Amino acid sequence: EKGGFDHFMLKEIYDQPRCISDCMRGRLLLKEKRIVLSTINLHRNELVNAGRFVIVACGTSWHAGLIGKQLIEQWAKIPVEVEYASEFRYRNPVILPGDVVIAISQSGETADTLAAFELAKKSGALCFGIVNAVGSSIARASDTGIYIHVGPEIGVASTKAFTGQVTVLTLFALALGHELGTIPQQEYEDTIEELGRIPGKIKTVLEKDSKIKDIARTLTYAENALYMGRGYNYPVALEGALKLKEISYIHAEGYPAAEMKHGPIALIDEDMPVVFVATHHQLYKKILSNIEEVKARNGRIIAIVTEGDEAVSDIAEATIEVPPTLAPLAPLLSVIPLQLTAYHVAVEKGLNVDQPRNLAKSVTVE
Ligand code: F6R
Repeated sequence: EKGGFDHFMLKEIYDQPRCISDCMRGRLLLKEKRIVLSTINLHRNELVNAGRFVIVACGTSWHAGLIGKQLIEQWAKIPVEVEYASEFRYRNPVILPGDVVIAISQSGETADTLAAFELAKKSGALCFGIVNAVGSSIARASDTGIYIHVGPEIGVASTKAFTGQVTVLTLFALALGHELGTIPQQEYEDTIEELGRIPGKIKTVLEKDSKIKDIARTLTYAENALYMGRGYNYPVALEGALKLKEISYIHAEGYPAAEMKHGPIALIDEDMPVVFVATHHQLYKKILSNIEEVKARNGRIIAIVTEGDEAVSDIAEATIEVPPTLAPLAPLLSVIPLQLTAYHVAVEKGLNVDQPRNLAKSVTVE
């Protein structure tokens, strides 16, 4: 059932080109350059007139939510808040008429996310589910939503569900922006075409696996690591750090790279690996100067860069290249090497990759 792979996690990482195609099937119409989502047909008024979106989620799904915020704000120009479900539910949160509350959950059974959703429903918000497990509690509590359709995820560390969630959020933000007229037609069509190329580009990243494995080996004995990204790659840095923590038991922190000088830079010495997600996008020059700051303090730099990169590659100890893409789609490619890195470190350490200690696949108790 692991399809020839040593672990479910590896199989699920390698499944991503197919999963993302499945997730987009019937929704991304490449020939017509159009996105079709039944939720937008059925709930057009409530969605187009939403005053605000509030995303509630936990863990990896919360990271996908942070990317969703950027996508929706970029294309639909509607404000989005992203909340830890566990905090939201106990805070007596303000829910306004016209709010749409989006719960993101792979399992659809996370207790805190479900409770946050139920609270939103009592307050009269439209409850929108982004779920993998069909018929799960969160799916049933939803007024509407979008399934990610990536198939069962068995490895405890979430991988294909994350890219599926980000894909669905991308489709939703594009479709909503199109309905509202807040995304230029050309950008809408260009992004649709590029989305169609993403599964193939993920395959290209997977082909770098043996190099990624070599780089991962150099992290095996690290006690700490920092992950840095900016813009769309900031949540990717958080996700890379979480992957490393949960399966390799190496303490890792993700940061928006510019926050480094407000504290974490004090940690940097020759024993501190710093993983930069530094693809060629609008903040590239900014992150390059963050990388130089780490270099000046003898930190070990590992960087995810765009094919053909020179500036970062010149100063990093190791780089992993990903194909070029549009900034809003960058996470779908840049997260892949981080998933593989965590996987290889855990295997190298002889750890139980699919069932890390103290973790459960569905967190059904708070
Ligand atoms: C991390 C991981 C967890 C889950 C979190 C939410 O790899 O798997 O952080 O993302 O427990 O789970 P779902 O998405 O099922 O609500």
